[in-house]
Amino acid sequence: MSIQKKVKRVTTSTLQEMKMSGEKIAMLTAYDFSMATVIDMAGIDVILVGDSASNVMAGHETTLPITLDQMIYHASSVVRGVNRCLVVVDLPFGTYQGNSKEALSSAIRIMKESGAHAVKMEGGREIKESIDRILTAGIPVMGHLGLTPQSIYKFGTYVVRAREEEEAKLLLEDAKILEEAGCFSIVLEKIPAHLAEQVAQAVSIPVIGIGAGSGVDGQVLVSHDMFGITQEFSPRFLRRYLDMGDQMKQAVSQYIKDVKSTDFPNENEQY
Ligand code: KIV
Repeated sequence: MSIQKKVKRVTTSTLQEMKMSGEKIAMLTAYDFSMATVIDMAGIDVILVGDSASNVMAGHETTLPITLDQMIYHASSVVRGVNRCLVVVDLPFGTYQGNSKEALSSAIRIMKESGAHAVKMEGGREIKESIDRILTAGIPVMGHLGLTPQSIYKFGTYVVRAREEEEAKLLLEDAKILEEAGCFSIVLEKIPAHLAEQVAQAVSIPVIGIGAGSGVDGQVLVSHDMFGITQEFSPRFLRRYLDMGDQMKQAVSQYIKDVKSTDFPNENEQY
């Protein structure tokens, strides 16, 4: 008989309850089975299979090149590694903007082929029709406002967004539009902390920030950044919890030395 312990899974309702009780939501990205297993076992609330996979896994300069098939590959690997957390998957660039039918079929493919629990989409009023259509299929949608990397060629830079009153006003309106449409949560990326806090207070759904200060309902970081694997990326909002890049380099140099000196393998490491 299996004695596997039943864990209480995190759902979109759990996140809503966390907002109401004031418990902060912790979210990290993951793109593969092994990393997802470790992050889930550590007790994370949400794993985001971000299209940042395009940068940190594939080495592209932007998130634009990653495809729906590639996102499904990453997402299904993550889903196989988790027991407890909610898994949200980015709809990649070009699979939902401007055509709500295509948006729905992209979201359905992610849910069917990866087993994930929700999708995330960048944008506000301009993608409302796509959000509406996806929601009619019962697929939970997380919004994403502020710095939206899929629009990098429109912005031209990765600097802080919505510093000016006009853009801040539009962002606040967009957050309300996403809430009214039925999104279960919103990510706010790289905007002034006072604006993010205002948004979190103005909407009843959980607001999760990255570079958006502490007045929101939760935080998200790209795991490769917080582990110190991506060493060249150092924005002000990033706290590094490990120096894995350095530690891995040291481990590899030691391994090379041991192989060259025939120290590895020793007698106990062979048959
Ligand atoms: O793709 C991603 O990792 C993201 C986070 C930065 C929120 O969208």
